[in-house]
Amino acid sequence: MCGIVGAIRSQGPVLRGLVEGLRVLEYRGYDSSGVAVVLPGGIQIAKRQGRLENLEAVLQDGALEAASAGIGHTRWATHGEPSDRNAHPHRGASGKVAIVHNGIIENYLPLKNELLEAGVTFESDTDTEVLAHMVDREFARTGDLSAAVRAALARVQGYYAMVAVAVGDAGSMMVCARQGPPLAVAWSEDGAYLASDVLPLLPYSNQVTFLEDGDMAVMQPGSVTITDFSGNPVTRTSREIEWDPEDAGKGHYPHYMLKEIHEQPGVIARTLEGRLDEKAGDVVFENDQLQDAFLADISRVQVVACGTALHAGYIASYLIEGLARVPVDVEFASEFRYRDPIIVPGTVALAISQSGETADTLAATRLAKAKGARVISICNVPGSSQVRESDQVILTRGGPEIGVASTKAFTAQVVAAVLLAIRIGRAKGTLSADDARGLLVELRMLRNQLEELLSENMRTHIKDLARRHAAAKGFLFIGRGVNYPVALEGALKLKEISYMHAEGYAAGEMKHGPIALIDPGMTVVAVNSIGRVADKVRANIEQVKSRGGETVSVGSDPESHEIAGQSIKVPACSEWLSPILNTVPLQLLSYYIADLRGCDIDKPRNLAKSVTVE
Ligand code: M6R
Repeated sequence: MCGIVGAIRSQGPVLRGLVEGLRVLEYRGYDSSGVAVVLPGGIQIAKRQGRLENLEAVLQDGALEAASAGIGHTRWATHGEPSDRNAHPHRGASGKVAIVHNGIIENYLPLKNELLEAGVTFESDTDTEVLAHMVDREFARTGDLSAAVRAALARVQGYYAMVAVAVGDAGSMMVCARQGPPLAVAWSEDGAYLASDVLPLLPYSNQVTFLEDGDMAVMQPGSVTITDFSGNPVTRTSREIEWDPEDAGKGHYPHYMLKEIHEQPGVIARTLEGRLDEKAGDVVFENDQLQDAFLADISRVQVVACGTALHAGYIASYLIEGLARVPVDVEFASEFRYRDPIIVPGTVALAISQSGETADTLAATRLAKAKGARVISICNVPGSSQVRESDQVILTRGGPEIGVASTKAFTAQVVAAVLLAIRIGRAKGTLSADDARGLLVELRMLRNQLEELLSENMRTHIKDLARRHAAAKGFLFIGRGVNYPVALEGALKLKEISYMHAEGYAAGEMKHGPIALIDPGMTVVAVNSIGRVADKVRANIEQVKSRGGETVSVGSDPESHEIAGQSIKVPACSEWLSPILNTVPLQLLSYYIADLRGCDIDKPRNLAKSVTVE
C-alpha cells in the first residue's frame, strides 16, 4: 500500500533522507513514487511511474538537493492508472502547496465538480489532487496552512493519512492529519519527521509518536504540535521503538524472506523471553497484561485476522480449546466486519496481525468492541493502531518484517498463542501447573530445534525437493488437527510467491472432492507429526499414493515418511507446538521453488505488505 515520508529541518538537506525513507517503505508495494521539496523559488516536484530507481534517475541532476523541507510518497494506484501524472505529490494551482495522501477521498467527485466549475484545471485523475486544490485555495486566502488543511478536511469524507507542505512568507510549513491509515511522527533538535510506518523514522529517533484518528500535527524543526481537527491541543505519548534501523536491511541474504526465515530461532527466543515461569508452571506477561482477573470470566473467544495471521488464529483456536477449554470461533476479519455478529457476554475478540494496521482486522476488532467484546491482540508492531485499541496485548518481538510473505511473524504469532492458551488455562484452572510446565520446557527447546531445521544439510535437501517439484502442475497441502492450518499456510506461502496453484485442505476432506485432482502431475505435501491424528493422516497419504500422486511428508511421524517416499524430517515435540516446527520447511520449500521459477520473491505481483485500505 502507499507510503508517506516527510521532513522539515532548520538547516541541512532533506532529499536524501526522503528517498531513503521511500526505499525503506518499498516493501509495502507501490507502482510510482515522488517527492515535493520547498526551494527558494517555490515548491518543486519530481515523480515517476515504476520503481524508485526511476525517480532517483530524475533527481540525479541535484536540482532539489538543497531543500530543507519536503515530502515523499510511494503510490499504490486507486484513482487513476499508475503513471507519472497520477503519481504523488500533487500541487494546487498556486504552486505553493503540495500534498501526498494515503487512503481514499470518498466524496471526491462532487468536490472535483465544484472546483471545475470554479475554473480549476486538473493534471491527474486522482482523488488526492482535489484535496491539494482545496488546501491550496484556502492557503492562498489566509496564508495559514493548518487552517487551510482543517477547512479542507472538514468537507472531505473518507479515510486518509495526508501531508501538506507549503511555502509562505515565513518559509516552509508542514502539516499532516490522520483519519484511518497510519501516520507516525518523531523529532530531533533540528528537525521533525513523519512517515506512514516507523521504519523511516528510526534513523532520526527511536522515540516515535503515533497519531490517532482525528489528529493533526504541525511539524516544525525540533517540535511537533498535535491537535484535533478543530485545533484543540491533544496529548499523545511517544513510545520507544527498540528496533535497530539495521534490521530493515537484507544483511548477506539475497532476499528479505530468506533472512526472515533464518531469524526465526532468535525471534521465538525473544518472544518467550521473561514470559516463562517454570516454578509456577505458568506464563507471565509484562506490564500486568492478561492477569487472572481479566481472563477468569472469558466465556468465548472470537478470532479475527487476515491471511497468514488468520492461519495463526486457527492454530490458536485448537490451543485455546484444547488447553483452556474455552470455545473459539475464527473468522476472516473481512467477513466478520460485514456480518451482524452475536457477541455473548464474556466474549473476547482475539485480533492477530503482524502490522497492526490491517484495515479489515481493525474494523472487525472495532465492531466486536462496539458490541461489548473485550480485545486481546497478538501483534508485532509496538504502538500500532491494533495495539493502541486493544485492552490487552501480546507483542511478538519479531522486529521489522519486510518480505511480503509473512514468515517469522507467523511462527511468533503461534508461540504467542501457545502462551495465551497456557495463561487462560492456568487462570481458569483447566490446565495443571505440571502440564503447563511440560509445555514451557518444550517451548525452551524450540530455538535449537528451529536451528536444526535451518541447517545447511536441511536447506540442501529442501532445495533438491524444490527442484523436483518446481514444475508440478499443482500442489495440495494436507494436514489434520492443529496441523491443518499449517497446510493452509504452506499453500498460501507457495501461491503468493511462486504463482503456482496450491490449495490447503483438511486431510480428512480429501475423499469429499479434492482427491479427484490427484494424478502423477500433482504434488501432495502431507503435514503430519506424532500425535492424536497421525494414523489418520497416514491413511490419507496412502490414498494419494495409490492414485499416482507424488507425496512429500513433512513432520515428525516416521511412518508417514516411509509411506510418502519423499520427506522432510522435523524434530519431535509436543503436538501443540508441532505447527511451529512444521511451518519452517514449508517456508523454505516455497522460497526455493519461487527462486527456481525466477519470481520476485520479496515483492510478489499484485501484493502489498500491509493492507491498510479495504
Ligand atoms: O499485517 P497483518 O498480519 O494483519 O497482515 C495480514 C495479511 O495481509 C498477511 O498475513 C498476508 O496474508 C501475507 N502476505 C501472507 O504472507
